[in-house]
Amino acid sequence: MGALAASIASHVPPGVLASLAALPNPGELVRRAVRLEDELRELLRLNGRDGATAEQGGNRAQQTRERFLRAYERLKSELLDDRTFNFDFTDETRQWVAKMMDYNVPGGKLNRGLSVIDSYMLLREGTEVDDEDFYLACVLGWCIEWLQASALVLDDITDNAYTRRDNLCWYKLPTVGLSAINDGVLLKCHVQAIIKRYFKEKFYFVDLMELWNEIGLQTAMGQMLDLITTHTGAKDLARYKIQGYRRIVKYKTSYYSFYLPVACALLLNGAKLSDYVELKNVLIEMGVYFQIQDDYLDCFGDPQVIGKVGTDIEDYKCSWLIVQAMELANENEMKILYENYGKSSTECVAAVKNVYKELDLQDIFLEYESRVYKHLVSTIDAEPDRAIREILKIFLKKIYRRKK
Ligand code: IPE
Ligand code: MN
Ligand code: MN
Repeated sequence: MGALAASIASHVPPGVLASLAALPNPGELVRRAVRLEDELRELLRLNGRDGATAEQGGNRAQQTRERFLRAYERLKSELLDDRTFNFDFTDETRQWVAKMMDYNVPGGKLNRGLSVIDSYMLLREGTEVDDEDFYLACVLGWCIEWLQASALVLDDITDNAYTRRDNLCWYKLPTVGLSAINDGVLLKCHVQAIIKRYFKEKFYFVDLMELWNEIGLQTAMGQMLDLITTHTGAKDLARYKIQGYRRIVKYKTSYYSFYLPVACALLLNGAKLSDYVELKNVLIEMGVYFQIQDDYLDCFGDPQVIGKVGTDIEDYKCSWLIVQAMELANENEMKILYENYGKSSTECVAAVKNVYKELDLQDIFLEYESRVYKHLVSTIDAEPDRAIREILKIFLKKIYRRKK
């Protein structure tokens, strides 16, 4: 012990000294501290701000959310009072539609809707955004939430799901049942009505309509692929391959969840979408990552946290997990998967999950997540436009290691 250490030690009670001795050696402590510092720096980097302004940012986010939620109330009453197509509706009808909207439109994480506003504000950085412009970003944000509501109401029927957003699925309510199909269609019609009301006179109206039509088509095609692929899997599970998987999720999830919010913000800002092909590719990649997380959480997530009980195994879904399992399983595990996948009994589901655990799919998922994260970070860093870079960072931050 050196002189300084000895003099410190003479002032420290023996118990404390003993516990100090039990600590890892200084080298290890330094390494840990460096690791922690790296992680912290990474988090701050992703936040794009330092600790002092983090609180301001938090307040701003809260205000944005409140303004966004107020916009919902306005859009809802405008749809309910729209004299052009429901002038002779009774109060009873109006109440039904109001209840249907409240049940299905606003109760999610609102990530997609808020992304339109976040993206738009970044594109406008340095210029004053008046209430009117801000509201228009809210309107398109809600249109995405409306489209999502439509897709989910229908998706829960086709997926035979039971719960959604901590509630019974809409079609599971005894007073609703299969009339939910029509509600899903109605919600999608609302999107068109809202867009027409607010954007008819804008110079980018045709571009906006084209965008929404294209993405509506892509999403429905993705859902179709998702559904018909289960026939292929039912014939032979080994036909579930990563390329086929990626195609399904690109169409059913990426376009509307990731590309659409940014594309809306770009159009609002007067941009031409054909100038942003590379951006679209990065967003699609993020969407694939997001759906892989969704598949993982379907099996390993906490239903209390994700607000829904998974059904992918029962539904014979071409999920990321089964695709991985098909690459890794030995003969015996293969046999168990073939015998139990796509069956609704709890024993069968448990047997499949057991194989997933034996194959360490949880670790493989974590590795995938780190890999795709690093890849996305370096792609984003290479993006020359600062606003676009920030938009992408915010997206990535929202989904990285999400638990719901
Ligand atoms: C459906 O994917 C995506 C759309 C609704 C377009 P999933 O079927 O995996 O979504 P969840 O798990 O039911 O939310
Ligand atoms: Mn589903
Ligand atoms: Mn899912």
